This record gives sequence, structure tokens and C-alpha cells, in this order.
Amino acid sequence: MQNFTIATIPGDGIGKDIIKSAIELVDLSSEIIGGFKCEWEMIDAGAEYYSKNGTDVEPQGEDRINEADSIFLGAIGLPSVRYEDGTEICPHLRFREMFSLYAGVRPVKAYPNITNRLSNKLSSKIDLVILRESTEGLFYTAAVHNRCPVDNNDEVQDIMRITRNTTEKLHDFAFKLARQRKKKGKLGKVTCVDKANVFRSQAFFRKIFDERKTNFQDIQSDHCYVDAMALNLIRNPWEYDVMVMENMFGDILSDLGGGLVGGMGMASCAEIGDNHGLFQPAHGSAPDIMGQDKANPLATILSSTLMLDYLADKNNCSNAAKSSKLIETAIEVGFQKNKLRPMEFGGDMGTQAITKELMDLLKDTNVQKEALN
Ligand code: IPM
Ligand code: MG
Repeated sequence: MQNFTIATIPGDGIGKDIIKSAIELVDLSSEIIGGFKCEWEMIDAGAEYYSKNGTDVEPQGEDRINEADSIFLGAIGLPSVRYEDGTEICPHLRFREMFSLYAGVRPVKAYPNITNRLSNKLSSKIDLVILRESTEGLFYTAAVHNRCPVDNNDEVQDIMRITRNTTEKLHDFAFKLARQRKKKGKLGKVTCVDKANVFRSQAFFRKIFDERKTNFQDIQSDHCYVDAMALNLIRNPWEYDVMVMENMFGDILSDLGGGLVGGMGMASCAEIGDNHGLFQPAHGSAPDIMGQDKANPLATILSSTLMLDYLADKNNCSNAAKSSKLIETAIEVGFQKNKLRPMEFGGDMGTQAITKELMDLLKDTNVQKEALN
């Protein structure tokens, strides 16, 4: 039996409910598949914690996170709670920096029967990944709180930082991801999304892309300016596969991507570094619907499948990969058969109903056969 310690941060708002839902599903799928188990080690952090304690993570929390096999996070932030300089409570931005989680993997995949925002039939084929650099770029001055204190009332600057070290690793990650996806029958192409016509830092980002691509001759590649990419994501998103970009561009386009496939309730996210991985939905804590059993837990559940794949790769644990496949298949079948109807898309199912339905699908031997064949 392989045991994995998961540093688990439910966080704020709907974070607490959606993380519970994902944990139930991962536990059930690991029981069904066997051979491994996740130990969920709870860590208190976030805006509510900050308002009571004046710090955004419990004592020794970061050490425990550092030692865990992976980090699993619900959602953090409450509109009424701010740091002293007025910005949002976001220890997870600091974790990205602390644990060098440079590769922000944000899949955008269309599932059947979800109200698609685009009328073109080809939108059912959308299956791409936004790879968002997550430690530098235009988030550099934001990543560690107060790195650049605002000390006057006339001018404030943020910096777009692009380093060779991180960018080489990021582009290599993009090409390797495209290679893995190609093996699964997907397009297997990388698009470098930048603003190389205007910013020196972005010309540098593109230059490194062109250097690294020579090591991946089997993978197609192209470039696109970020403004044109916003257009193409609406016009022909099904023609893209892996798209690699700096931090802020990725933050913006990944929300656009969520909108393309229904909403942020489908927007999963993995933040991966050389030694750590953090998994969380890309959406916020939605305090307006917290505690009402209305939240769509699927972005978190999909993030847990990314986590299982990561644990599988890192620890050579094929059972974790099978468990991920089982959950993904249950979601696919659930939408195909119209058994998953999140309130987010006008349906009648809240967090608990979706969780219960997915648990039934996991236990369904036909779903198991489809997933494991
Ligand atoms: C995201 C979020 C965060 C970000 C916020 C909550 C700090 O929007 O993960 O996309 O800007 O990175
Ligand atoms: Mg965002």
C-alpha cells in the first residue's frame, strides 16, 4: 500500500464544501482501485483565519505543506478581509513563490450537455491547456506580499519579470505536456502566447521558446500575440492544444477558457514545480453562495484528478493514475447521460447531489470497465 500525505487547505467560503466533496470521491476511487491511500492533513489558512489570528496560515503550516506529497486547496479570500495595504488575503500566491510552482496547468475541456457559450458545433471539441507561468511575469511584485511597498501617492510600478531559468523549464514543461497529450490522441501542439512585439521581456520569452523547441522536433509549435489569442479563443479554440504564457496573461485567459466550457465551476488547476505540486480550482471562494449547497464542486474534483496523475508520475503509482481515470470517466459519463446538472449551468443539482451522483457512477461497473480498459 502506498500512502500519500496531502496538505489540505479548505480555506474560505465554498472552499470548505467543495474540498469535502473531492476528498470523498478520491477516497472512494482509491478504495475501488486499491494499492494506495491519501492521508488528508488539514491545515487552517485563509481570510477567515487571518481575521481571527492576524496571520494567513496556522503556525508551522508552511513546514507541513513543504513536507507533504502534495498540496490540495479549496478556495481562499473574503471580500471583507484585507491585508493592511488593502489587497486580498492570498497565502497561495506566496506558496507559488515559496515552492517554485512555476507551471500553472489550467485545462479547458468541453463536456457534453453543458450549455456551451459558443454556438459553433465544433465547440464540443474544445480540449486545450493554458499553461500559466505562476511565479514571476507581471505577478512578480505581487507574489510575495509587500515586496514592493507603495510609499508615495503619485506613482506605483509593478514589474514584468521573465527569467531564463524559469522560462526554459516552463517551455520544456509545455512541450513535454504536448507530447503526453499527443500520445493520448490529442493535437500535440504548443502555442507561445506573448506580446513580443511590444515588451522586451516578452521578446525574451519568445526567444527562449524558439531555442527550446528545437529539442522537441516531434511537436508542432507556433506563436500568437495575447490580444489575438483572446480573439482566437472565441473564434476557433478547438484548433489549439497547449498554450504557454506569462503569469498575468494566463490569469486572464484561463477565466476566458472557463467561460468557453460553461463557467469557472469547470476550471481546474495544477501548480507544479520541481519538488512540489499544489492543486486547486481556478475559481474563488464565492462567499455569496457559501453554506447553501449550491456550489459546483467539479473544478475541485477535476483538480483532484490532476493531483492523482501527479502523484502517480512522481511515485510510480499506476493505481493513482487509474483512480484519476475512473473519476474523469465518471464525470464524462455523468454529463453524457445528463446525470450531472450543476446549478451553475441552470440545473437542479447542488454540491451534495453532484457528489452523490458521482459516487454512484464510480461504483457502476460499466463506468469502471470504460475507465480501466
Ligand atoms: C487565480 C486567482 C488568483 C490569481 C487570485 C485569487 C490571487 O485569480 O488563481 O487565477 O490571481 O492568481
Ligand atoms: Mg484568476
